[in-house]
Amino acid sequence: MEPSARLQSIRPSPIRVLSEGAPADAIPLGLGEPTWDLPEPARRALAQESGPCGYGPNAGLPELRRAVARWHGATTDEVLITSGSEGALFSLFMAWLGAGDEVLVPDPGFPAYPALARMAGAEVVPFALSEQFQLDAEAFIGCLEAHPRAKAAVINHPSNPTGGGASLEELRAVARACQQRGILLISDEVYRDLHFGTRPPSLRDAGSYGLVLGSMSKGWAAPGLRVGWAVGDPRWLTPARTVHAFAVTAASAPCQRAALALLEASGDVLPQGRREIKLRWEALALAWQEFFGESLTPPAGAFYHWLSLPEEAQQDPMAFCVKLRDEAKVVLVPGSAFGVAGHSHARLSFAAQPEKIREGVRRMAPYWRRS
Ligand SMILES: Cc1ncc(COP(=O)(O)O)c(C=O)c1O
Repeated sequence: MEPSARLQSIRPSPIRVLSEGAPADAIPLGLGEPTWDLPEPARRALAQESGPCGYGPNAGLPELRRAVARWHGATTDEVLITSGSEGALFSLFMAWLGAGDEVLVPDPGFPAYPALARMAGAEVVPFALSEQFQLDAEAFIGCLEAHPRAKAAVINHPSNPTGGGASLEELRAVARACQQRGILLISDEVYRDLHFGTRPPSLRDAGSYGLVLGSMSKGWAAPGLRVGWAVGDPRWLTPARTVHAFAVTAASAPCQRAALALLEASGDVLPQGRREIKLRWEALALAWQEFFGESLTPPAGAFYHWLSLPEEAQQDPMAFCVKLRDEAKVVLVPGSAFGVAGHSHARLSFAAQPEKIREGVRRMAPYWRRS
């Protein structure tokens, strides 16, 4: 039997394929997940679980919804707690998109956007980022004007895979354009609190239009909890809540209690996360100077370095990354995994342990010098 037609254009994420097939001694600069410990408040909350372990309400535990609402300056009915922010994306796309609809996604961008949009039956329309890989309102609006069937759009800042951000002016212009056309604007801000000095702006700083996605997975260092959320107008959220309820009932209740403990301890947990990525960034910058002879400037946020591939590697970036993985034993993800515009780049995740970062850069450098 064949899988359903909706899966025909969808392949497993190359990020996972490359990482899961890696030799045991390969340096993992592929996956985008924190490698520092789950912070103490979450461990304590999980250890304190007692009594029945119920499902909890579909929209999330009221105390967590209230805390997320406070975090975003929203009201409780503007918060939907989901199974990771990916649960929010899935539910929103299934709720609002169908055959004949178009959805704008960044190129390069997180591979789940086009995959989930296609699963919902929609057509994917990539929009370009600026030359510095920031949100470019002019390019976004141009794309919107050329696609009158667009029903939703996703922006992501700081960006996976580039680390690029979005200025408040660009966010305002994008929100205005979407509001004028009644388009569902989803602002994926899961990396917002992993920055290198200045906290990047949120779509919510640009006004009340659109939805913001957040997550425990990056700044709060708890991807395994699978707790994320969408914040904004309940009229957008209610149909998504129905999808999420039938798909998974609710995010795990013990994990939501751990998420609440993390959110309440944000004053300690987030600066600690930033110290961890600063350490890793410094390890990368030092190693880059040593083995590539170049100095690097930090991204707007997240833990990704978006680097140019050697010319010869651009013939077949996936083959190059497989060779790098199996010969040099270092895992990078080809930029082509993030869209057509990523073809000449690769993503290096510096979420890895600092000592592994130096060793990874040492191993990969000869492949750049050869070309
Ligand atoms: C840009 C972006 N959005 C969303 C997610 C999904 O995060 P989660 O489902 O763990 O909240 C990721 C994960 O890597 C991501 O990079």
